[in-house]
Amino acid sequence: MNTKLWTVDVKEDLSTNYPQITQAARLLQQNETVAFPTETVYGLGANAKNNDAVAKIYEAKGRPSDNPLIVHIAEIGQLKEIAEADSAQAETLMKHFWPGPLTIVLPCKKGVLSTRVTAGLDTVAVRMPDHPVALELIKRAGVPVAAPSANLSGKPSPTKAEHVIHDLNGRIAGVVDGGPTGVGVESTVVSCTGDVPVILRPGGVTKEQLEEAAGPVLIDQGITDEKKAPLSPGMKYTHYAPEAPLAIIKGSLKNIQQLIEQYQKDGMRVGILTTEERAGAYRADVVRICGRRDRLETVAAGLYDSLRSFDEEKPDFIFAESFPEEGVGRAVMNRLLKAAGHRVIEA
Ligand code: TXA
Ligand code: MG
Repeated sequence: MNTKLWTVDVKEDLSTNYPQITQAARLLQQNETVAFPTETVYGLGANAKNNDAVAKIYEAKGRPSDNPLIVHIAEIGQLKEIAEADSAQAETLMKHFWPGPLTIVLPCKKGVLSTRVTAGLDTVAVRMPDHPVALELIKRAGVPVAAPSANLSGKPSPTKAEHVIHDLNGRIAGVVDGGPTGVGVESTVVSCTGDVPVILRPGGVTKEQLEEAAGPVLIDQGITDEKKAPLSPGMKYTHYAPEAPLAIIKGSLKNIQQLIEQYQKDGMRVGILTTEERAGAYRADVVRICGRRDRLETVAAGLYDSLRSFDEEKPDFIFAESFPEEGVGRAVMNRLLKAAGHRVIEA
């Protein structure tokens, strides 16, 4: 398959005569797959109502079929068509965070969406992204758009069009390049099917922000406790991993550097994922800076690009610094722990 590439300048007014987006929307209407930027990561979109279209997403990504997809909408009117949206907590969350990096799980309306989207569950995950390209594309397609992150299953999510092309060129119909995404980690997934909202996946909207808007919020124990099964099917899979094995490293800079040297003495090329504040302290073979420790949102924004960039240098082992589990640091640590297969080393 020849993958089309369109480039869009997000600073322009996309609502008037932007042929790239019209062409991409037409492919979605023809039940093809198109990757597009959102404020979190690039998504791989397809018509959520059509079985064949949705099947193409799973095939292109190599995604297990029991892992359901998020349905993206551009207008609140589209919600009632696909989900039972009479929950007061859900309404409060939508008012505060849509459009934005929050996905809400609600009871699913029957017979509207492809059953592949929900992977047989009776709930559906819905989100209204805060990105001009995503919103305009969904509007012009005129259908709800199912879209997981546009990476090969298991790889870090794409935050640039070049990541999408690296993973999926020739496997999808098109890519709209709208430049790098902003938030850098995926949306927060919250279930609103019970009495209290439950975070199924930490992400761009923090627990603190959710609680300020809607009162107490729970976190699915399956996210933090390795022994418990997570409530969200996707959380059980290994994810975000660069090619080399990776471990999270805790301890003083001096001890971490000593450990790096020990690995090097054993003949290994060692990589370190670090921050601007600390990068100068290490003498490793590959040093990657993902952001500033005193601004965790910059770490979130740079995380996946840094993880991917290790593959070019082919280290034998990667250490990743750890971050405080507060604010967006919760999402960062969740992704790093998955990339590390939960391996944490105390130096
Ligand atoms: O920021 C994002 O959310 C990005 C952009 C493209 O919008 N999308 C994204 O999709 O991260 P994906 O497929 O990579 O992750 C969707 C997550 C998975 O963990 C999946 O299991 C979960 O949402 N999910 C989807 N439907 C669900 C449902 N009905 N109940 C529980 N979890 C669900
Ligand atoms: Mg994903």
